[in-house]
Amino acid sequence: MLGTTLSTSNFSNGAYGYRETLDASLKVNWKIDDIIGGDKKLDFSKRFMPEALARVEGLTFLNEDEKRVLNQIRGNAYLTIFGIVEEFIVPFVIDHVQLLPMDMDDYKLRAFLQFAGEEVKHIQLFKRFCEEFKEGFATEHKVIGPAAEIGKAVLANNPLGVALAILMIEWMTQAHYLDSMKDDIELDPQFKSLLKNHWLEEAQHAKLDTRMVESLAEGLSEEEIAAGIDGFLSVGGFLDEGLKQQTLFDLEALETAIGRRLSETEREEFVTTQLQANRWTYIGSGMVHPKFQEMLDRLGPEAKKRINEVAPVFA
Ligand SMILES: [Fe+2]
Ligand SMILES: [Fe+2]
Repeated sequence: MLGTTLSTSNFSNGAYGYRETLDASLKVNWKIDDIIGGDKKLDFSKRFMPEALARVEGLTFLNEDEKRVLNQIRGNAYLTIFGIVEEFIVPFVIDHVQLLPMDMDDYKLRAFLQFAGEEVKHIQLFKRFCEEFKEGFATEHKVIGPAAEIGKAVLANNPLGVALAILMIEWMTQAHYLDSMKDDIELDPQFKSLLKNHWLEEAQHAKLDTRMVESLAEGLSEEEIAAGIDGFLSVGGFLDEGLKQQTLFDLEALETAIGRRLSETEREEFVTTQLQANRWTYIGSGMVHPKFQEMLDRLGPEAKKRINEVAPVFA
Protein backbone atom coordinates (compact mmCIF):
# COMPACT_ATOMS: atom_id res chain seq x y z
CA MET A 1 0.00 0.00 0.00
CA LEU A 2 1.15 3.50 -0.71
CA GLY A 3 1.96 5.68 2.27
CA THR A 4 4.47 8.51 2.37
CA THR A 5 7.03 5.85 1.52
CA LEU A 6 6.58 2.38 0.08
CA SER A 7 6.79 0.02 3.00
CA THR A 8 9.61 -2.49 3.22
CA SER A 9 7.09 -5.32 3.47
CA ASN A 10 5.80 -4.39 0.02
CA PHE A 11 9.14 -5.16 -1.58
CA SER A 12 11.16 -7.50 0.61
CA ASN A 13 11.01 -11.31 0.56
CA GLY A 14 10.29 -11.42 -3.18
CA ALA A 15 8.42 -14.42 -4.52
CA TYR A 16 11.31 -15.51 -6.72
CA GLY A 17 14.21 -17.19 -4.92
CA TYR A 18 17.76 -16.54 -6.19
CA ARG A 19 18.90 -20.13 -5.69
CA GLU A 20 15.87 -21.60 -7.53
CA THR A 21 16.25 -19.09 -10.36
CA LEU A 22 19.94 -19.89 -10.72
CA ASP A 23 19.24 -23.65 -10.73
CA ALA A 24 16.61 -23.23 -13.45
CA SER A 25 19.02 -21.13 -15.46
CA LEU A 26 21.88 -23.64 -15.19
CA LYS A 27 19.55 -26.40 -16.39
CA VAL A 28 18.60 -24.52 -19.57
CA ASN A 29 22.01 -23.03 -20.44
CA TRP A 30 22.24 -23.81 -24.20
CA LYS A 31 25.27 -23.07 -26.39
CA ILE A 32 24.95 -20.82 -29.44
CA ASP A 33 26.29 -23.49 -31.82
CA ASP A 34 23.60 -25.90 -30.61
CA ILE A 35 20.81 -23.71 -31.91
CA ILE A 36 22.16 -21.87 -34.98
CA GLY A 37 24.48 -22.66 -37.90
CA GLY A 38 25.27 -25.85 -39.83
CA ASP A 39 22.08 -27.52 -40.99
CA LYS A 40 19.93 -25.27 -38.81
CA LYS A 41 18.96 -22.79 -41.52
CA LEU A 42 16.22 -20.22 -41.90
CA ASP A 43 13.50 -21.23 -44.36
CA PHE A 44 12.66 -18.14 -46.41
CA SER A 45 9.62 -19.87 -47.92
CA LYS A 46 7.89 -19.50 -44.54
CA ARG A 47 6.82 -16.63 -42.32
CA PHE A 48 8.97 -15.85 -39.26
CA MET A 49 6.67 -13.79 -37.03
CA PRO A 50 3.19 -14.56 -35.68
CA GLU A 51 0.44 -12.43 -37.23
CA ALA A 52 -0.49 -11.08 -33.77
CA LEU A 53 2.79 -9.12 -33.86
CA ALA A 54 3.44 -8.73 -37.60
CA ARG A 55 -0.05 -7.49 -38.59
CA VAL A 56 0.60 -7.88 -42.33
CA GLU A 57 -2.78 -9.42 -43.25
CA GLY A 58 -4.62 -6.09 -43.22
CA LEU A 59 -2.33 -4.72 -45.94
CA THR A 60 -4.57 -5.93 -48.77
CA PHE A 61 -2.49 -4.22 -51.47
CA LEU A 62 0.25 -6.82 -50.84
CA ASN A 63 -0.02 -10.32 -52.33
CA GLU A 64 0.76 -13.45 -50.29
CA ASP A 65 4.46 -13.53 -51.23
CA GLU A 66 4.84 -9.85 -50.43
CA LYS A 67 3.16 -10.32 -47.05
CA ARG A 68 5.61 -13.12 -46.29
CA VAL A 69 8.54 -10.88 -47.27
CA LEU A 70 7.27 -8.11 -44.98
CA ASN A 71 6.77 -10.64 -42.20
CA GLN A 72 10.43 -11.70 -42.57
CA ILE A 73 11.55 -8.06 -42.55
CA ARG A 74 9.70 -7.68 -39.26
CA GLY A 75 11.41 -10.84 -37.99
CA ASN A 76 14.84 -9.44 -38.79
CA ALA A 77 13.99 -6.16 -37.05
CA TYR A 78 12.62 -8.10 -34.06
CA LEU A 79 15.78 -10.04 -33.30
CA THR A 80 18.07 -7.11 -34.16
CA ILE A 81 16.12 -4.76 -31.88
CA PHE A 82 16.18 -7.34 -29.08
CA GLY A 83 19.95 -7.48 -29.50
CA ILE A 84 20.08 -3.67 -29.20
CA VAL A 85 17.88 -3.67 -26.10
CA GLU A 86 19.98 -6.34 -24.44
CA GLU A 87 23.05 -4.15 -24.89
CA PHE A 88 21.68 -1.73 -22.31
CA ILE A 89 20.29 -4.45 -20.06
CA VAL A 90 23.80 -5.88 -19.53
CA PRO A 91 25.45 -2.72 -18.06
CA PHE A 92 22.33 -1.97 -16.03
CA VAL A 93 22.40 -5.40 -14.38
CA ILE A 94 26.15 -5.17 -13.78
CA ASP A 95 25.74 -1.72 -12.18
CA HIS A 96 23.01 -3.15 -9.97
CA VAL A 97 25.29 -5.97 -8.81
CA GLN A 98 28.12 -3.53 -8.05
CA LEU A 99 25.88 -1.56 -5.71
CA LEU A 100 24.89 -4.64 -3.72
CA PRO A 101 26.56 -5.16 -0.31
CA MET A 102 29.79 -7.19 -0.24
CA ASP A 103 28.27 -9.77 2.11
CA MET A 104 25.30 -10.52 -0.10
CA ASP A 105 23.95 -14.01 -0.67
CA ASP A 106 26.27 -15.95 -3.05
CA TYR A 107 23.27 -17.26 -5.00
CA LYS A 108 22.03 -13.75 -5.56
CA LEU A 109 25.40 -12.70 -6.98
CA ARG A 110 25.64 -15.78 -9.19
CA ALA A 111 22.04 -15.40 -10.38
CA PHE A 112 22.63 -11.81 -11.52
CA LEU A 113 26.00 -12.58 -13.11
CA GLN A 114 24.42 -15.54 -14.94
CA PHE A 115 21.64 -13.20 -16.11
CA ALA A 116 24.17 -10.69 -17.51
CA GLY A 117 26.21 -13.49 -19.14
CA GLU A 118 23.11 -14.92 -20.81
CA GLU A 119 22.16 -11.53 -22.24
CA VAL A 120 25.63 -11.17 -23.77
CA LYS A 121 25.16 -14.65 -25.26
CA HIS A 122 21.78 -13.54 -26.67
CA ILE A 123 23.44 -10.50 -28.27
CA GLN A 124 25.91 -12.86 -29.97
CA LEU A 125 23.08 -15.19 -31.05
CA PHE A 126 21.12 -12.34 -32.60
CA LYS A 127 24.23 -11.12 -34.43
CA ARG A 128 24.64 -14.61 -35.90
CA PHE A 129 20.99 -14.56 -36.92
CA CYS A 130 21.47 -11.16 -38.63
CA GLU A 131 24.38 -12.52 -40.68
CA GLU A 132 22.26 -15.45 -41.83
CA PHE A 133 19.34 -13.18 -42.60
CA LYS A 134 21.58 -10.96 -44.73
CA GLU A 135 22.82 -13.94 -46.71
CA GLY A 136 19.37 -15.40 -47.29
CA PHE A 137 17.25 -12.29 -47.82
CA ALA A 138 19.34 -10.87 -50.67
CA THR A 139 18.28 -7.19 -50.47
CA GLU A 140 19.11 -4.58 -47.85
CA HIS A 141 17.14 -4.01 -44.64
CA LYS A 142 18.29 -1.23 -42.33
CA VAL A 143 17.69 -1.45 -38.59
CA ILE A 144 17.89 1.44 -36.09
CA GLY A 145 21.07 1.96 -34.12
CA PRO A 146 23.85 2.15 -33.18
CA ALA A 147 23.16 0.06 -30.09
CA ALA A 148 25.69 1.99 -27.95
CA GLU A 149 23.96 5.35 -28.64
CA ILE A 150 20.51 3.92 -27.92
CA GLY A 151 21.80 2.33 -24.72
CA LYS A 152 23.42 5.57 -23.57
CA ALA A 153 20.18 7.52 -24.06
CA VAL A 154 18.08 4.90 -22.23
CA LEU A 155 20.50 4.55 -19.30
CA ALA A 156 20.51 8.35 -18.76
CA ASN A 157 16.97 8.02 -17.33
CA ASN A 158 15.88 7.46 -13.73
CA PRO A 159 17.14 3.97 -12.63
CA LEU A 160 13.71 2.82 -11.41
CA GLY A 161 12.24 3.91 -14.75
CA VAL A 162 14.92 1.96 -16.66
CA ALA A 163 14.40 -1.11 -14.44
CA LEU A 164 10.66 -0.95 -15.09
CA ALA A 165 11.25 -0.69 -18.84
CA ILE A 166 13.53 -3.74 -18.67
CA LEU A 167 10.95 -5.63 -16.60
CA MET A 168 8.30 -4.80 -19.19
CA ILE A 169 10.57 -6.10 -21.96
CA GLU A 170 11.36 -9.35 -20.11
CA TRP A 171 7.68 -10.17 -19.46
CA MET A 172 6.83 -9.16 -23.01
CA THR A 173 9.19 -11.76 -24.49
CA GLN A 174 7.44 -14.39 -22.37
CA ALA A 175 4.04 -13.40 -23.73
CA HIS A 176 5.24 -13.24 -27.35
CA TYR A 177 6.54 -16.80 -27.36
CA LEU A 178 3.85 -18.44 -25.24
CA ASP A 179 0.80 -16.62 -26.58
CA SER A 180 1.53 -16.34 -30.26
CA MET A 181 4.55 -18.36 -31.40
CA LYS A 182 4.60 -21.66 -29.53
CA ASP A 183 1.52 -23.18 -31.19
CA ASP A 184 1.82 -21.54 -34.61
CA ILE A 185 2.77 -24.43 -36.92
CA GLU A 186 3.01 -22.17 -40.01
CA LEU A 187 6.14 -20.35 -38.80
CA ASP A 188 9.68 -21.24 -39.86
CA PRO A 189 10.84 -23.87 -37.31
CA GLN A 190 14.36 -22.41 -37.10
CA PHE A 191 13.19 -18.87 -36.35
CA LYS A 192 10.77 -20.33 -33.82
CA SER A 193 13.53 -22.39 -32.22
CA LEU A 194 15.63 -19.25 -31.66
CA LEU A 195 12.68 -17.62 -29.93
CA LYS A 196 11.97 -20.74 -27.89
CA ASN A 197 15.54 -20.95 -26.62
CA HIS A 198 15.58 -17.24 -25.90
CA TRP A 199 12.32 -17.56 -23.96
CA LEU A 200 13.71 -20.46 -21.89
CA GLU A 201 16.40 -18.17 -20.48
CA GLU A 202 14.29 -15.01 -20.36
CA ALA A 203 11.89 -16.81 -18.01
CA GLN A 204 14.57 -16.46 -15.30
CA HIS A 205 15.42 -12.87 -16.30
CA ALA A 206 11.84 -11.73 -15.75
CA LYS A 207 12.02 -13.05 -12.19
CA LEU A 208 15.40 -11.44 -11.46
CA ASP A 209 14.21 -8.16 -12.94
CA THR A 210 11.24 -8.31 -10.61
CA ARG A 211 13.67 -8.59 -7.69
CA MET A 212 15.74 -5.73 -9.11
CA VAL A 213 12.69 -3.43 -9.32
CA GLU A 214 11.72 -4.52 -5.79
CA SER A 215 15.08 -3.52 -4.37
CA LEU A 216 15.16 -0.20 -6.27
CA ALA A 217 11.62 0.71 -5.17
CA GLU A 218 11.90 -0.32 -1.55
CA GLY A 219 11.55 2.61 0.82
CA LEU A 220 11.05 5.23 -1.93
CA SER A 221 8.75 8.19 -1.33
CA GLU A 222 5.72 8.90 -3.53
CA GLU A 223 7.72 11.63 -5.29
CA GLU A 224 10.59 9.23 -5.97
CA ILE A 225 8.21 6.63 -7.38
CA ALA A 226 6.64 9.35 -9.54
CA ALA A 227 10.13 10.25 -10.82
CA GLY A 228 10.61 6.56 -11.70
CA ILE A 229 7.37 6.59 -13.68
CA ASP A 230 8.54 9.76 -15.46
CA GLY A 231 11.71 7.87 -16.35
CA PHE A 232 9.76 4.87 -17.62
CA LEU A 233 7.56 7.09 -19.81
CA SER A 234 10.61 8.88 -21.12
CA VAL A 235 12.23 5.53 -22.11
CA GLY A 236 8.94 4.54 -23.79
CA GLY A 237 8.80 7.83 -25.71
CA PHE A 238 12.41 7.44 -26.83
CA LEU A 239 11.82 3.85 -28.02
CA ASP A 240 8.70 5.01 -29.85
CA GLU A 241 10.77 7.50 -31.87
CA GLY A 242 13.02 4.60 -32.85
CA LEU A 243 9.98 2.57 -33.93
CA LYS A 244 8.82 5.41 -36.21
CA GLN A 245 12.20 5.31 -37.93
CA GLN A 246 12.15 1.50 -38.08
CA THR A 247 8.74 1.51 -39.77
CA LEU A 248 10.17 3.70 -42.55
CA PHE A 249 13.21 1.41 -42.87
CA ASP A 250 10.85 -1.58 -43.16
CA LEU A 251 8.86 0.16 -45.91
CA GLU A 252 12.05 0.93 -47.81
CA ALA A 253 13.25 -2.68 -47.43
CA LEU A 254 9.90 -4.07 -48.60
CA GLU A 255 9.84 -1.89 -51.73
CA THR A 256 13.41 -2.88 -52.58
CA ALA A 257 12.72 -6.58 -51.99
CA ILE A 258 9.50 -6.73 -54.03
CA GLY A 259 10.85 -4.45 -56.74
CA ARG A 260 7.96 -1.97 -56.83
CA ARG A 261 7.08 1.31 -55.16
CA LEU A 262 3.78 1.46 -53.32
CA SER A 263 1.34 4.28 -54.12
CA GLU A 264 1.20 7.24 -51.71
CA THR A 265 -2.09 5.95 -50.21
CA GLU A 266 -0.62 2.48 -49.75
CA ARG A 267 2.50 3.93 -48.15
CA GLU A 268 0.40 5.91 -45.70
CA GLU A 269 -1.62 2.82 -44.81
CA PHE A 270 1.61 0.86 -44.41
CA VAL A 271 3.12 3.40 -42.03
CA THR A 272 -0.05 3.71 -39.91
CA THR A 273 -0.62 -0.05 -39.61
CA GLN A 274 2.98 -1.08 -39.19
CA LEU A 275 3.91 1.65 -36.71
CA GLN A 276 1.02 0.46 -34.56
CA ALA A 277 2.15 -3.17 -34.99
CA ASN A 278 5.64 -2.14 -33.86
CA ARG A 279 4.24 -0.21 -30.90
CA TRP A 280 2.27 -3.24 -29.78
CA THR A 281 5.22 -5.60 -30.35
CA TYR A 282 7.84 -3.66 -28.39
CA ILE A 283 5.86 -1.61 -25.85
CA GLY A 284 2.10 -2.21 -25.62
CA SER A 285 2.18 -5.98 -25.18
CA GLY A 286 4.56 -5.49 -22.24
CA MET A 287 2.55 -2.70 -20.61
CA VAL A 288 -0.56 -4.88 -20.34
CA HIS A 289 1.26 -8.05 -19.24
CA PRO A 290 -0.40 -9.24 -15.98
CA LYS A 291 2.96 -9.57 -14.20
CA PHE A 292 3.98 -6.04 -15.18
CA GLN A 293 0.58 -4.81 -14.04
CA GLU A 294 1.12 -6.66 -10.76
CA MET A 295 4.31 -4.66 -10.21
CA LEU A 296 2.46 -1.43 -10.96
CA ASP A 297 -0.07 -2.37 -8.29
CA ARG A 298 2.77 -2.64 -5.82
CA LEU A 299 4.11 0.77 -6.86
CA GLY A 300 0.76 2.35 -6.05
CA PRO A 301 -2.45 3.47 -7.76
CA GLU A 302 -0.99 6.68 -9.16
CA ALA A 303 1.89 4.83 -10.89
CA LYS A 304 -0.52 2.32 -12.38
CA LYS A 305 -2.96 5.01 -13.48
CA ARG A 306 -0.29 7.04 -15.28
CA ILE A 307 1.05 4.06 -17.21
CA ASN A 308 -2.38 2.68 -18.05
CA GLU A 309 -3.46 6.05 -19.36
CA VAL A 310 -0.83 5.90 -22.10
CA ALA A 311 -1.08 2.13 -22.77
CA PRO A 312 -3.84 2.47 -25.44
CA VAL A 313 -1.45 4.51 -27.63
CA PHE A 314 0.63 1.32 -27.96
CA ALA A 315 -2.24 -1.17 -28.41
FE1 LIG B 1 17.74 -12.01 -23.87
FE1 LIG C 1 16.53 -10.91 -20.86
